[in-house]
Amino acid sequence: MENTDVLKIKGGMPLNGEVAVYGAKNAVSKILVAALLTDKECVLRNASYVVDTELMMNILTSLGAEVEDDRTNRTIRVASRNIHGMADAKFHEVVGKSRVPILLCGPLLSRMGEAVIPALGGCVIGDRPVDFHIAALRKLGAEVEEKSDGIYFKAKKLVGCPIRLDYPSVGATEQVLLSAVFAEGATELSNAAIEPEIQDLVSVLNQMGADITLSERTYIVRGVQKLHGFNHCTIPDRLEVASWACVAAATNGNIFVRNANPLPMRAFLEKFKEVGGEFAIKDDGIGFWRGEQELRPIKIETDVYPGFATDWQQPFTVLLTQSMGESIVHETVYENRFGYTTALNQMGANIELIEECRGTLCRFNGNYFHTALIYGPTPFVAQEIEVPDLRGGFSYVIAALIAKGVTEISNVKLLKRGYENFVEKLSCLGAEIVDDLPLPPATMDL
Ligand code: EPU
Repeated sequence: MENTDVLKIKGGMPLNGEVAVYGAKNAVSKILVAALLTDKECVLRNASYVVDTELMMNILTSLGAEVEDDRTNRTIRVASRNIHGMADAKFHEVVGKSRVPILLCGPLLSRMGEAVIPALGGCVIGDRPVDFHIAALRKLGAEVEEKSDGIYFKAKKLVGCPIRLDYPSVGATEQVLLSAVFAEGATELSNAAIEPEIQDLVSVLNQMGADITLSERTYIVRGVQKLHGFNHCTIPDRLEVASWACVAAATNGNIFVRNANPLPMRAFLEKFKEVGGEFAIKDDGIGFWRGEQELRPIKIETDVYPGFATDWQQPFTVLLTQSMGESIVHETVYENRFGYTTALNQMGANIELIEECRGTLCRFNGNYFHTALIYGPTPFVAQEIEVPDLRGGFSYVIAALIAKGVTEISNVKLLKRGYENFVEKLSCLGAEIVDDLPLPPATMDL
């Protein structure tokens, strides 16, 4: 039987044209979680239809919420008047397929006094524990029991308190915000993450009537009794914008990314320029191309916002294989986010992984292969490769676009976690797609 999860790309063409990006993947799904905090109507605009969006809509429905999806207008309406609980078999079927459902704790505790979160899904890019989430919820007063079939949470009420995260985790920050909105008194959350997607969630929560302020990396959440609905336009996906920018520079093409916003991309744009890329910021998006024929080698260190995002490093690493000389990428957010480089080396890259930090000393020094030394430029030759995770997978697409011959990329369904209609977008930009793919079902197992 023919494998419909394989994408075949014939490399060598510069990609030119325009693509549009919509609501940030890492904001849309969390804002849908926030809709569970109220029984009033919530309207999310500028939705992007990636896997987490579909999953969250299914989870909300299985919990008893009414979900109306107006795809033509990218608008999702949620009214969770009657939340009837987690007994629905469908809830268990879909909840473990992403990492986002761990954030259901706050809304479910406030609506029902309990939450059960089965084992989580998500990309395998490190251990990805949820210990910060559990510790924070315990501090707020929840009883937590970890069982073989999931994590069980119970609380009659939550009480605000000071919480300091060991590391500015995106998910743990969102967990505290979504849980503390109804806690009695004030919660002071320090050493927290301040990613733009979290700021978007905070805007939504405050629009709903929450009382959240931020100074440096400390949020103060003053608990309220009730929240109302929201009508919100989600920020564009800065992670997808960077991916297309790297495609433009790597293929020596020119891509205008409609709806791209430069403000949350400062760290990326600086590095893009340093390597030899060019960009033009317009009111309605950003154009990207390669400024100089020969790309320069540079050093990159991933970090929490406002640093260089860990989700930008994989497409950028492929770009650096085309730079003249030695580049360094030091990954400080996830301990195991370079697995994808093995296949790039098979295609012709010269990437060496080391355990030592280069630049700032991070918590992975000497323990994990978390620094990549990239020697370029190296031509790529087509191979059969398998997508290991979302961003690693996109880097394979870029490698295929610049490789000699036809690269067969399998397991491309993983790319649909973060890139809506990416095969269509590639085709529109002039990529030579040898085989097109039907979209996988929304509730596929990831
Ligand atoms: N961490 C812990 N304990 C915890 C939580 C996190 O040790 O309880 C560690 C993680 O293992 C990791 C670091 O803290 O080493 C950062 O993890 P974080 O919690 O910030 O990540 P996340 O919330 O699970 C989100 C995005 C990721 C993105 C990271 C970092 C979503 C659904 N996912 O993950 O996005 O890489 O923040 O910005 O929002 C992607 O888009 O491809 C993706 C993986």
